[in-house]
Amino acid sequence: MVAVLAIETSCDETSVAVVENYQVHSNLVASQIDLHRQYGGVVPEVASRQHVETLNPLIADALAQSGLGWDQIDGIAVTCAPGLVGALLVGLTAAKTLALVHNKPLVGVHHLEGHLYAAYLSEPELKPPFLYLLVSGGHTSLIAVRDHGLYELLGQTRDDAAGEAFDKVARLLGLEYPGGPAIDRVAHEGNPQAFALPEGKVSLGDGSRNFHPYDTSFSGLKTAMLRLVQQFEREGKPLPVADLAASFQETVARVLTKRTLACALDHDLSTIIAGGGVAANSRLRSQLTQAAAERGVKVIFPPLKFCTDNAAMIGCAGVMHLAQGHVSPLTLGVQSRLALTQVMSLYS
Ligand code: KG4
Ligand code: ZN
Repeated sequence: MVAVLAIETSCDETSVAVVENYQVHSNLVASQIDLHRQYGGVVPEVASRQHVETLNPLIADALAQSGLGWDQIDGIAVTCAPGLVGALLVGLTAAKTLALVHNKPLVGVHHLEGHLYAAYLSEPELKPPFLYLLVSGGHTSLIAVRDHGLYELLGQTRDDAAGEAFDKVARLLGLEYPGGPAIDRVAHEGNPQAFALPEGKVSLGDGSRNFHPYDTSFSGLKTAMLRLVQQFEREGKPLPVADLAASFQETVARVLTKRTLACALDHDLSTIIAGGGVAANSRLRSQLTQAAAERGVKVIFPPLKFCTDNAAMIGCAGVMHLAQGHVSPLTLGVQSRLALTQVMSLYS
């Protein structure tokens, strides 16, 4: 049995969890969404200051709620990349201090590996290989997971990440930040076939007329949404927000479903794990699950509340690394960007 105390401060959620193997003993999330909403997005400096204020009491509460004592904790897991540098620093500094004071190993965790291991909260027996569909605020990628810690990038977005597209389109439609959940909510009232929207194919760039089978591009879709909104405004008509949101969401879900399934089948990967905030999207969950089932492919979405940022998923990735003897040096730093394929550079 491996138990870790895990800390996540990479963006706008301060979160601390205690995870034993892939079982959550406690998971506290202090969301800063209300604080950032007035600016329409995350303000890095505000995020860092809020993490400083929130983190210490959260650590004490998470440990108390877990029912475990320090003597039962085997290591400190902490997100150290990628993310907002100032925000990451708050979590990493706290984690290093705890590691030193309590004489526990430090396990730096790649945030996007955390989103992947959120699936272990519902499926603790999962064994690689599988295909990881990563759809978050900053990333949209298809990654082959050959083994624990061994990744191969197979497809990615050429411009906006899926979550970013949701957030920008929501703002266009006058919906609140963060845009993904807002679009998901109003789309239930709309007609997903109301507007035909472009799927955003990416040419292979080899002089042929062929398209990249797994890469995505959301900029054309975003522009199409802008043109529609402008047209309604020009004509002085009220925006059919629900129909626009439903059509947009349907298109994103369809594109992601097609690309992901093609990638899984082409690479003989019979299990797909979705992760990241957009994995909470109701249409993506239903479309991909159904399409994959028809082709005999298994799809795992993490439990809804573990799709967006939380420390329990960081704890799961930490448990996996610690179980394999991967420990980070106390000189570990934070990195705003780090490819998932480089994850083993976090361990000495
Ligand atoms: O993974 P995450 O919590 O943070 C990052 O690591 O980026 O993802 C946040 C993103 C935001 O863009 C948010 O709008 C989107 O996930 N999101 C959703 C939904 N819930 C969150 N997008 C679509 N549908 C949702 N239900
Ligand atoms: Zn995230």
